Amino acid sequence: MSNAPLHPVVGELLYEGKAKQVYATEDADWVVMRFKDDATAFNGLKKASISDKGPINAKISAHLLGLVAAAGVPTAFARTLSPRDQLFRRVEIVPVEVVVRNVVAGSFAKKLGRPEGEWLARPVVEHFYKSDALNDPPINEDAAIVLGWAAAWELACMRERALRVNEVLLAFWAERNIDLVDFKLEFGRADGAILLADEITPDGSRLWERGTGRHLDKDVFRRDLGDLGDTYRELHTIVFGTAYRAE
Ligand SMILES: Nc1ncnc2c1ncn2[C@@H]1O[C@H](COP(=O)(O)OP(=O)(O)OP(=O)(O)O)[C@@H](O)[C@H]1O
Ligand SMILES: [Mg+2]
Repeated sequence: MSNAPLHPVVGELLYEGKAKQVYATEDADWVVMRFKDDATAFNGLKKASISDKGPINAKISAHLLGLVAAAGVPTAFARTLSPRDQLFRRVEIVPVEVVVRNVVAGSFAKKLGRPEGEWLARPVVEHFYKSDALNDPPINEDAAIVLGWAAAWELACMRERALRVNEVLLAFWAERNIDLVDFKLEFGRADGAILLADEITPDGSRLWERGTGRHLDKDVFRRDLGDLGDTYRELHTIVFGTAYRAE
Protein backbone atom coordinates (compact mmCIF):
# COMPACT_ATOMS: atom_id res chain seq x y z
CA MET A 1 0.00 0.00 0.00
CA SER A 2 1.31 3.46 -0.88
CA ASN A 3 1.49 6.30 1.63
CA ALA A 4 -1.29 8.86 1.41
CA PRO A 5 -0.45 11.45 -1.27
CA LEU A 6 0.76 14.76 0.19
CA HIS A 7 -1.01 16.96 -2.36
CA PRO A 8 -3.69 14.75 -3.91
CA VAL A 9 -5.00 15.86 -7.28
CA VAL A 10 -8.75 15.32 -7.65
CA GLY A 11 -9.22 13.16 -10.73
CA GLU A 12 -12.20 11.54 -12.41
CA LEU A 13 -15.51 11.07 -10.64
CA LEU A 14 -15.62 7.34 -9.84
CA TYR A 15 -19.17 7.26 -8.50
CA GLU A 16 -21.75 9.41 -6.92
CA GLY A 17 -23.88 8.41 -3.95
CA LYS A 18 -26.77 10.28 -2.42
CA ALA A 19 -24.69 12.46 -0.12
CA LYS A 20 -21.14 12.21 -1.46
CA GLN A 21 -19.07 11.98 -4.61
CA VAL A 22 -16.02 9.74 -4.83
CA TYR A 23 -13.09 10.96 -6.93
CA ALA A 24 -9.96 9.14 -8.03
CA THR A 25 -6.58 10.67 -7.21
CA GLU A 26 -3.26 10.17 -9.00
CA ASP A 27 -2.71 7.25 -6.61
CA ALA A 28 -5.04 4.27 -7.16
CA ASP A 29 -4.97 3.42 -3.43
CA TRP A 30 -6.54 6.74 -2.38
CA VAL A 31 -9.80 8.57 -3.13
CA VAL A 32 -11.26 11.98 -2.37
CA MET A 33 -14.74 11.96 -0.87
CA ARG A 34 -16.69 15.16 -1.52
CA PHE A 35 -19.64 15.90 0.79
CA LYS A 36 -22.64 17.37 -1.03
CA ASP A 37 -25.45 19.50 0.42
CA ASP A 38 -28.05 17.02 -0.84
CA ALA A 39 -30.43 15.40 1.61
CA THR A 40 -32.43 12.36 0.56
CA ALA A 41 -34.89 10.11 2.36
CA PHE A 42 -36.86 6.98 1.56
CA ASN A 43 -34.18 5.74 -0.84
CA GLY A 44 -34.08 8.98 -2.80
CA LEU A 45 -37.86 9.53 -3.11
CA LYS A 46 -37.61 12.75 -1.08
CA LYS A 47 -34.81 15.17 -1.96
CA ALA A 48 -33.61 18.64 -1.04
CA SER A 49 -30.49 20.72 -1.00
CA ILE A 50 -29.65 21.93 2.52
CA SER A 51 -27.12 24.75 2.65
CA ASP A 52 -24.06 24.02 4.86
CA LYS A 53 -25.00 20.33 5.23
CA GLY A 54 -21.99 19.01 3.26
CA PRO A 55 -19.27 20.87 5.17
CA ILE A 56 -20.93 20.31 8.56
CA ASN A 57 -21.32 16.57 7.94
CA ALA A 58 -17.76 16.39 6.66
CA LYS A 59 -16.45 18.07 9.80
CA ILE A 60 -18.52 15.95 12.19
CA SER A 61 -17.58 12.75 10.35
CA ALA A 62 -13.86 13.56 10.41
CA HIS A 63 -14.10 14.29 14.14
CA LEU A 64 -15.97 11.08 14.98
CA LEU A 65 -13.82 8.87 12.72
CA GLY A 66 -10.79 10.34 14.48
CA LEU A 67 -12.24 9.44 17.87
CA VAL A 68 -13.01 5.85 16.93
CA ALA A 69 -9.59 5.45 15.28
CA ALA A 70 -7.99 6.63 18.53
CA ALA A 71 -10.06 3.97 20.31
CA GLY A 72 -8.46 1.27 18.15
CA VAL A 73 -10.88 0.87 15.24
CA PRO A 74 -8.98 0.99 11.92
CA THR A 75 -10.62 3.39 9.47
CA ALA A 76 -10.15 4.36 5.82
CA PHE A 77 -10.12 8.07 6.73
CA ALA A 78 -6.79 9.83 6.15
CA ARG A 79 -7.34 13.56 6.49
CA THR A 80 -9.41 16.63 5.66
CA LEU A 81 -8.41 18.47 2.48
CA SER A 82 -10.99 21.27 2.41
CA PRO A 83 -14.41 21.89 4.01
CA ARG A 84 -16.05 19.43 1.60
CA ASP A 85 -13.18 17.14 0.60
CA GLN A 86 -11.52 14.35 2.55
CA LEU A 87 -8.82 11.87 1.63
CA PHE A 88 -9.63 8.20 2.21
CA ARG A 89 -7.98 4.90 1.57
CA ARG A 90 -9.81 3.40 -1.39
CA VAL A 91 -11.64 0.29 -0.25
CA GLU A 92 -13.89 -2.31 -1.76
CA ILE A 93 -17.10 -1.62 0.13
CA VAL A 94 -18.58 -4.71 1.81
CA PRO A 95 -22.20 -4.66 0.59
CA VAL A 96 -23.49 -5.32 4.10
CA GLU A 97 -24.46 -2.27 6.15
CA VAL A 98 -24.14 -2.66 9.90
CA VAL A 99 -26.70 -0.93 12.11
CA VAL A 100 -26.27 -0.69 15.87
CA ARG A 101 -29.33 0.11 17.97
CA ASN A 102 -29.46 1.26 21.58
CA VAL A 103 -33.05 2.46 21.59
CA VAL A 104 -36.07 1.23 19.61
CA ALA A 105 -36.78 3.56 16.66
CA GLY A 106 -37.38 3.72 12.92
CA SER A 107 -37.77 0.50 10.95
CA PHE A 108 -37.03 -1.60 14.06
CA ALA A 109 -40.02 -0.07 15.87
CA LYS A 110 -42.26 -0.43 12.85
CA LYS A 111 -41.49 -4.03 11.92
CA LEU A 112 -41.57 -5.30 15.52
CA GLY A 113 -44.54 -3.27 16.70
CA ARG A 114 -42.62 -1.63 19.58
CA PRO A 115 -42.98 2.00 20.58
CA GLU A 116 -40.08 4.29 19.72
CA GLY A 117 -37.97 5.27 22.71
CA GLU A 118 -37.61 1.93 24.54
CA TRP A 119 -33.97 1.39 25.64
CA LEU A 120 -32.71 -2.07 24.69
CA ALA A 121 -31.12 -4.24 27.40
CA ARG A 122 -27.97 -4.32 25.28
CA PRO A 123 -27.10 -3.02 21.81
CA VAL A 124 -28.68 -4.89 18.90
CA VAL A 125 -26.63 -5.31 15.71
CA GLU A 126 -28.55 -5.59 12.44
CA HIS A 127 -27.41 -6.18 8.86
CA PHE A 128 -28.81 -4.79 5.62
CA TYR A 129 -27.87 -5.68 2.07
CA LYS A 130 -26.46 -2.51 0.49
CA SER A 131 -28.62 -2.27 -2.63
CA ASP A 132 -30.46 0.86 -3.74
CA ALA A 133 -32.37 -1.26 -6.29
CA LEU A 134 -33.75 -3.44 -3.48
CA ASN A 135 -34.10 -0.61 -0.96
CA ASP A 136 -31.39 -2.01 1.40
CA PRO A 137 -33.36 -5.06 2.64
CA PRO A 138 -32.63 -6.57 6.08
CA ILE A 139 -30.55 -9.77 5.92
CA ASN A 140 -28.89 -11.99 8.49
CA GLU A 141 -25.25 -13.05 8.70
CA ASP A 142 -25.96 -16.48 7.27
CA ALA A 143 -27.48 -15.02 4.10
CA ALA A 144 -24.54 -12.61 3.72
CA ILE A 145 -22.08 -15.52 3.92
CA VAL A 146 -23.97 -17.94 1.67
CA LEU A 147 -24.71 -15.27 -0.95
CA GLY A 148 -21.04 -14.27 -1.01
CA TRP A 149 -21.32 -10.69 0.29
CA ALA A 150 -18.99 -11.16 3.27
CA ALA A 151 -16.92 -13.91 4.88
CA ALA A 152 -17.80 -15.15 8.36
CA TRP A 153 -14.59 -13.65 9.79
CA GLU A 154 -15.38 -10.30 8.17
CA LEU A 155 -18.85 -10.23 9.70
CA ALA A 156 -17.41 -11.11 13.11
CA CYS A 157 -14.83 -8.34 12.75
CA MET A 158 -17.45 -5.80 11.61
CA ARG A 159 -19.75 -6.70 14.49
CA GLU A 160 -17.03 -6.38 17.12
CA ARG A 161 -15.83 -3.06 15.70
CA ALA A 162 -19.36 -1.68 15.34
CA LEU A 163 -19.94 -2.40 19.04
CA ARG A 164 -16.67 -0.67 19.91
CA VAL A 165 -17.71 2.33 17.81
CA ASN A 166 -21.00 2.30 19.70
CA GLU A 167 -19.22 2.51 23.07
CA VAL A 168 -17.16 5.47 21.90
CA LEU A 169 -20.05 7.33 20.30
CA LEU A 170 -22.56 6.63 23.10
CA ALA A 171 -20.14 8.23 25.56
CA PHE A 172 -19.32 11.11 23.21
CA TRP A 173 -22.96 12.06 22.68
CA ALA A 174 -23.96 11.39 26.31
CA GLU A 175 -21.41 14.02 27.41
CA ARG A 176 -23.35 16.42 25.19
CA ASN A 177 -26.73 15.46 26.66
CA ILE A 178 -27.68 13.46 23.57
CA ASP A 179 -28.80 9.84 23.36
CA LEU A 180 -27.30 7.86 20.49
CA VAL A 181 -30.38 5.88 19.48
CA ASP A 182 -28.92 4.03 16.48
CA PHE A 183 -26.47 4.45 13.61
CA LYS A 184 -25.34 2.79 10.38
CA LEU A 185 -21.77 1.92 9.41
CA GLU A 186 -20.14 0.78 6.19
CA PHE A 187 -16.93 -1.23 6.10
CA GLY A 188 -14.53 -1.95 3.27
CA ARG A 189 -11.64 -4.19 2.30
CA ALA A 190 -8.10 -3.01 1.62
CA ASP A 191 -5.04 -5.26 1.49
CA GLY A 192 -7.05 -8.13 2.95
CA ALA A 193 -8.05 -6.16 6.04
CA ILE A 194 -11.37 -4.66 7.12
CA LEU A 195 -11.53 -0.89 7.58
CA LEU A 196 -14.37 1.30 8.80
CA ALA A 197 -15.27 3.39 5.74
CA ASP A 198 -17.76 5.94 4.46
CA GLU A 199 -18.93 8.41 7.12
CA ILE A 200 -20.31 8.83 10.63
CA THR A 201 -22.83 11.65 10.44
CA PRO A 202 -26.30 12.67 11.63
CA ASP A 203 -27.50 11.47 8.20
CA GLY A 204 -26.93 7.89 9.30
CA SER A 205 -27.45 8.23 13.06
CA ARG A 206 -30.39 8.96 15.32
CA LEU A 207 -29.51 11.54 17.95
CA TRP A 208 -32.16 12.50 20.50
CA GLU A 209 -31.78 15.35 22.95
CA ARG A 210 -31.86 13.79 26.41
CA GLY A 211 -35.03 14.51 28.33
CA THR A 212 -36.98 16.10 25.49
CA GLY A 213 -36.40 13.44 22.82
CA ARG A 214 -35.97 16.23 20.26
CA HIS A 215 -34.49 14.86 17.02
CA LEU A 216 -31.05 16.20 16.08
CA ASP A 217 -30.55 14.12 12.94
CA LYS A 218 -31.91 13.49 9.45
CA ASP A 219 -35.31 12.42 10.86
CA VAL A 220 -35.99 16.18 11.01
CA PHE A 221 -36.01 16.01 7.20
CA ARG A 222 -37.61 12.56 6.82
CA ARG A 223 -40.49 13.47 9.15
CA ASP A 224 -40.80 17.20 8.37
CA LEU A 225 -40.01 18.17 11.96
CA GLY A 226 -38.25 21.44 11.15
CA ASP A 227 -35.34 22.94 9.24
CA LEU A 228 -32.55 20.40 8.75
CA GLY A 229 -29.97 23.13 8.12
CA ASP A 230 -30.76 24.71 11.49
CA THR A 231 -30.52 21.28 13.15
CA TYR A 232 -27.10 20.56 11.64
CA ARG A 233 -25.82 24.04 12.53
CA GLU A 234 -26.99 23.41 16.10
CA LEU A 235 -25.14 20.09 16.10
CA HIS A 236 -22.00 21.88 14.92
CA THR A 237 -22.22 24.17 17.95
CA ILE A 238 -22.80 21.18 20.24
CA VAL A 239 -19.82 19.23 18.85
CA PHE A 240 -17.28 22.03 18.31
CA GLY A 241 -18.43 24.66 20.81
CA THR A 242 -18.69 27.41 18.20
CA ALA A 243 -21.34 28.43 15.69
CA TYR A 244 -20.77 27.15 12.15
CA ARG A 245 -19.20 29.69 9.80
CA ALA A 246 -18.75 28.88 6.12
CA GLU A 247 -15.06 28.89 5.15
N1 LIG B 1 -13.10 4.68 1.27
C1 LIG B 1 -13.94 4.40 0.27
N2 LIG B 1 -13.49 3.86 -0.88
C2 LIG B 1 -14.36 3.59 -1.90
N3 LIG B 1 -15.70 3.80 -1.84
C3 LIG B 1 -16.22 4.32 -0.71
C4 LIG B 1 -15.37 4.63 0.41
N4 LIG B 1 -16.14 5.13 1.41
C5 LIG B 1 -17.41 5.11 0.93
N5 LIG B 1 -17.47 4.63 -0.32
C6 LIG B 1 -18.69 4.52 -1.17
O1 LIG B 1 -18.87 5.79 -1.79
C7 LIG B 1 -20.24 6.09 -1.92
C8 LIG B 1 -20.51 7.35 -1.12
O2 LIG B 1 -21.72 7.87 -1.42
P1 LIG B 1 -22.88 8.06 -0.37
O3 LIG B 1 -22.46 7.68 0.98
O4 LIG B 1 -23.45 9.38 -0.66
O5 LIG B 1 -23.83 6.93 -0.90
P2 LIG B 1 -25.23 6.56 -0.26
O6 LIG B 1 -26.15 7.69 -0.45
O7 LIG B 1 -24.98 6.02 1.08
O8 LIG B 1 -25.80 5.49 -1.16
P3 LIG B 1 -25.01 4.35 -1.80
O9 LIG B 1 -23.88 4.14 -0.83
O10 LIG B 1 -25.94 3.20 -1.84
O11 LIG B 1 -24.61 4.91 -3.12
C9 LIG B 1 -21.00 4.90 -1.37
O12 LIG B 1 -21.29 4.01 -2.43
C10 LIG B 1 -19.98 4.28 -0.42
O13 LIG B 1 -20.22 2.92 -0.22
MG1 LIG C 1 -23.17 6.01 2.28
